[in-house]
Amino acid sequence: MPSSTPHLASEGDPENPSVRRAQRTRVTVRAGAPVAYIRVVLLLLLDVSLLAGASGSPVVNPCCHYPCQNSGMCVRYAAGRFECDCTGTGFYGDNCTPSPDTVHYLLTHFHWLWELINTSFLRDVLMRVVLTVRSNFIPSPPTFNSKYGYLSWESYSNLSYYTRLLPPVPEDCPTPMGTKGKAVLPDPAVLVERFLIRKTFRPDPQGANLMFAFFAQHFTHQFFKTHHRMGPGFTRALSHGVDAGHIYGDNLERQLQLRLHQDGKLKYQLVKGEMFPPTTKQVPVTMSYPDSIPDHQRLALGQEVFGLLPGLALYSTLWLREHNRACDILRAEHPSWDDEQLFQTARLIIIVRPDYSNRISLEFNHLYHWHPLMPDSFLVDGQDVDYPHFLFNTSLLLHFGVEKLVDAFSRQEAGQIGGGWNVHRRLQKVVELVIKESRDLRVQPFNEYRKKFELKPYKSFYEFTDDQEMARQLEELYGDIDALEFYPGLLLERTRHNAIFGESMVEMGAPFSLKGLLGNPICSPVYWKPSTFGGAAGFDLVNSATLERLVCLNSRWCPYVSFHVPRNERDRRRREPTTEL
Ligand code: HEM
Ligand SMILES: *[C@@H]1O[C@H](CO)[C@@H](O)[C@H](O)[C@H]1NC(C)=O
Ligand SMILES: *[C@@H]1O[C@H](CO)[C@@H](O)[C@H](O)[C@H]1NC(C)=O
Ligand SMILES: *[C@@H]1O[C@H](CO)[C@@H](O)[C@H](O)[C@H]1NC(C)=O
Repeated sequence: MPSSTPHLASEGDPENPSVRRAQRTRVTVRAGAPVAYIRVVLLLLLDVSLLAGASGSPVVNPCCHYPCQNSGMCVRYAAGRFECDCTGTGFYGDNCTPSPDTVHYLLTHFHWLWELINTSFLRDVLMRVVLTVRSNFIPSPPTFNSKYGYLSWESYSNLSYYTRLLPPVPEDCPTPMGTKGKAVLPDPAVLVERFLIRKTFRPDPQGANLMFAFFAQHFTHQFFKTHHRMGPGFTRALSHGVDAGHIYGDNLERQLQLRLHQDGKLKYQLVKGEMFPPTTKQVPVTMSYPDSIPDHQRLALGQEVFGLLPGLALYSTLWLREHNRACDILRAEHPSWDDEQLFQTARLIIIVRPDYSNRISLEFNHLYHWHPLMPDSFLVDGQDVDYPHFLFNTSLLLHFGVEKLVDAFSRQEAGQIGGGWNVHRRLQKVVELVIKESRDLRVQPFNEYRKKFELKPYKSFYEFTDDQEMARQLEELYGDIDALEFYPGLLLERTRHNAIFGESMVEMGAPFSLKGLLGNPICSPVYWKPSTFGGAAGFDLVNSATLERLVCLNSRWCPYVSFHVPRNERDRRRREPTTEL
């Protein structure tokens, strides 16, 4: 696989997709452009000269001012005129501003949903991100993408695009962020160096551990799979949701290669009598490994990049064992079932977790670059393993086994995500890349997203962060708080008291995470019944799923397993090695 770039491994410079065909966006909405779904209700035409400032200055595309509030849609007409379409926003007037009878959706609308989450082991994860679902922020059907800043059939039907919550900044705006800020944005390398690179490790005050970090990464990389060859606005995970494509592959061909074709199971290798993923020699699927990794150490996994971290291969191993265990249980109940039915039913059991079945958006992807979680080095069984010895080192998993890795990752604290200065030097390029890509794709300013999620836009950098020096420098670099970018905004915003990140990450992340639940077929009564999962035994697997059971039913002894570091002695002493299982 020399062609499958091991760019994840490279020391300094992951392949830079900004030099790959960046999708140039054309987003100006002109009269006659396809605006099929836009029904203009009550609107006044405004002359742009009111907005463009001094008369005599060149006519500015009025949409560059983001005049439409509260998710109103800016539509451009001739001669600098525009309209705000407020349909369905619950807001009114020229700019979609509040009126007394504005409706807010309440948490109570989602009661059944909360119960569902509460019975699943994802609860731990989601509870970190999700405090409230305050409103239906994420549109369904999906709206824009990186090429189309207006509604179009192409953007609806072409699943290769990440969708976009807000349209790209129009091409013809006076500044890169619209009308505010400087003509040139700060150098990403300067931003990262000055504000994001870690000085000393700052643990998450809420006690998240590496078990949590790798879970979040493992889980989300089934739907965050940027198709770099097509461009940063495209995804390879065409199902846009939780389909366990990171376990079974994101296409049928890969799935068939990974399957044993017997009893519904997935292929595996036995190491010291224990089940692990096979090698690429045994299952020749494309994986990203640097050339230095010998064949017998290249694990063949559902997701191409999961050889990168032992933490990812660990979760893949657990799911592999869980899948094959489910097959055994199902086969005992249904001796007549063939391989296909056993496989398909076991897969449904694995998939059935709260589902993000909405179209995955670019903003969600960027938001989820939680690289500050990563520590300075990894502590495994008394060894201090540095990055060069950790990345792509699959023998760590095979050598230590599931139990010791789970124990180690559950005990080691992860980094605080928000507040700045907490990205390990090793991950510098990854973070620079998000910023670069967001510029190629013309992602709107942080404050526009604040408004989209009904948060008050910050008035100054001093309100945004408590660090006076950071505020001063950001102001110098950006010129205007309204020009601050989305991703730097999320990572640098003042964190909530003793929390892993700031207000925006929570308030924006939660709706993204939860929205899709409402539309997922698997949560519908048609699917949600025992027979879907092979009867009571299968349904029981689904309903009793917890992180602890996932680990302890698939290992020889039950380690300390949690998404937070041990909080006290009781926790610490819990789960000493036992042979009970
Ligand atoms: C040592 C640990 C990690 C390393 C070495 C690493 C490295 C990388 C690299 C090289 C990329 C690709 C950048 C690009 O080409 O676009 C990437 C993407 C990404 N990373 Fe990480 N990462 C790590 C941990 C994490 C964690 C813990 C999370 C979240 C919990 C995370 C979330 C993401 C996301 C969401 C993407 C975008 C994926 C895509 O769009 O395909 N990463 N990471
Ligand atoms: C979730 O479960 C816990 C205990 O299992 C319970 O105390 C809590 O009220 C539940 N929350 C919701 C929203 O159902
Ligand atoms: C989706 O759009 C991209 C870019 O225009 C194009 O290359 C691709 O063929 C489209 N996919 C489909 C299924 O039409
Ligand atoms: C993998 O990890 C083990 C245990 O820490 C170490 O001895 C070995 O050198 C590592 N391998 C590589 C290629 O870094």
